[in-house]
Amino acid sequence: MNKRFYLTTAIDYVNGAPHLGHAYEKVLADVIARVHRSMGGEVFFLTGLDEHGQKVQQAAQEQGKTPQAYCDELAVQWLAFVQKLGLSNDDFVRTTDQRHKDVVQAILSKLHAEEQFYKKPYVGFYSVREETFLTEKDRNPDGTWDAKWGQVNELVEENWYFKLGQHQQWLIEYIEANPGFIQPDYRRNEVLGFLRSQTLEDLCITRPAARLSWGIPLPFDPGFVTYVWFDALVNYFSVPVSLGDEGALGALPSAFRKQLPPISLWPADVHLIGKDILKFHAVYWPIMLKALGAPLPKTLLVHGWWQKDGAKLSKSTGNVVDPIAVIDEWGLDAFRYYLVRELGIGPDGNWTDDGFKSRYNAELANGLGNLLNRSISMLNKYRGGVVPAQSDELKPEAVVALKVIEGKLAAYDLQGALVEIWKEVNRANLYIEQTRPFSLAKDPAQAARLDAVLYNLVETCRILAVLLWPFIPATAEKIFAQLNVAGSPADWKLTEWGGLAAGHTIGTPIPLFPRKDLVPK
Ligand code: ME8
Ligand code: MG
Repeated sequence: MNKRFYLTTAIDYVNGAPHLGHAYEKVLADVIARVHRSMGGEVFFLTGLDEHGQKVQQAAQEQGKTPQAYCDELAVQWLAFVQKLGLSNDDFVRTTDQRHKDVVQAILSKLHAEEQFYKKPYVGFYSVREETFLTEKDRNPDGTWDAKWGQVNELVEENWYFKLGQHQQWLIEYIEANPGFIQPDYRRNEVLGFLRSQTLEDLCITRPAARLSWGIPLPFDPGFVTYVWFDALVNYFSVPVSLGDEGALGALPSAFRKQLPPISLWPADVHLIGKDILKFHAVYWPIMLKALGAPLPKTLLVHGWWQKDGAKLSKSTGNVVDPIAVIDEWGLDAFRYYLVRELGIGPDGNWTDDGFKSRYNAELANGLGNLLNRSISMLNKYRGGVVPAQSDELKPEAVVALKVIEGKLAAYDLQGALVEIWKEVNRANLYIEQTRPFSLAKDPAQAARLDAVLYNLVETCRILAVLLWPFIPATAEKIFAQLNVAGSPADWKLTEWGGLAAGHTIGTPIPLFPRKDLVPK
């Protein structure tokens, strides 16, 4: 049995509506999943929801609901969002799933039995909004607490701690020895800088149930529930366990083994996450797995954050982009295209409505849409829609471009791949300007030349559909349909030049991206 390419996103906090940042991460993951599937790989793509913690308990209370009922209602919206984005995920995990809770408890029991935890009293301050303990160092110079912490409460309480500190040297050496573990490089350096300069504190992994009941009960001390991050990170592992994956089951008691068809997932190949949750994934998670005796994920792929019009996304100031509204107005593929094309995996990005419209009109409507429309229209007009004999004029360039695109995809440079694909779009549009098929058509002596030009155009369109399927799958399918090509563009092998056979009859053109003229403000 082959190990599948196992790819995850962060699991989103259930409270709050899905926003641009969530959409971005999910679309990136979907493109990566589709690239692998198209290339013949077996993929398992997981996304889901993070449902425990004080924020959820409070929000449910304010609405007079139980936390479970509150989460169940919101989960419906999140699942609808996943569908709206056209995601090809294989599973959707909720941290309130029994399958997840069982694994969190089994991990806690095992680490407790191996004396990885200890209990001690704590006196200090706690930020509800960030679900984190604060120290004197976190205060403003004037002694107040920054607004970003929200409500800060003074606490005196006992808790359980995980002995993180003892793994610090091992983790530094691991990250040094595995350059691909944290990507891009500057995020890896950030983690190494932190680990080399600061002493790793042990991690508080519980909250007293009296203060916070909405969490997974600690199996060995009923007065406590599990800290929400210890719970949430385990989702990546609990799903493989629930599906009977041997790679994950090896670290758990044999009671977890079930009679299930074999599947091979763990270790994860890619955890795709935003920059703000890097420490949890690059420090806590590897140490948890190490302590558990489970293999580590291969890559943490860390993306940046979106702003809008140069300012932080914020519901309270109304500086937001509503992904659903954009999709309803412009179409899913235009939205997916803009996200991936505008912001590569790494730096921060900036959404502007003008930038979106300008890419829509220039690159989608005029660039790709026009190429397909002109190619199909001319073949219909000049050759009754029948594909002429194969001609290889643009083949050498297509072959070189394919290698470059494959290199970008292998390096998770999805933005770079789109840039290269659009070089081909522009090359083919330029080819029309240079060869002037409309003039060739007027001269019977140029019939063979016109045949060659038309073949190169429709064949380029066919290959573009295959290259674009991971990014904008519905558009790729439409291109195949208009070319009247049987089957799906979801097969990378079809990028090979010469797929359209002489004598094949194409279909009729329908605009892929109807041009929307800019309404002057
Ligand atoms: O952090 N631009 O959930 P979350 C880009 N439940 N990405 C953004 C973004 C923005 N403006 N805002 C948020 C959590 N994100 C935890 C994760 S994983 C075991 C638990 C990204 O809903 C963010 O970086 O606050 C994160 O990767 C994801 O959205 C979910 O954020
Ligand atoms: Mg967040």
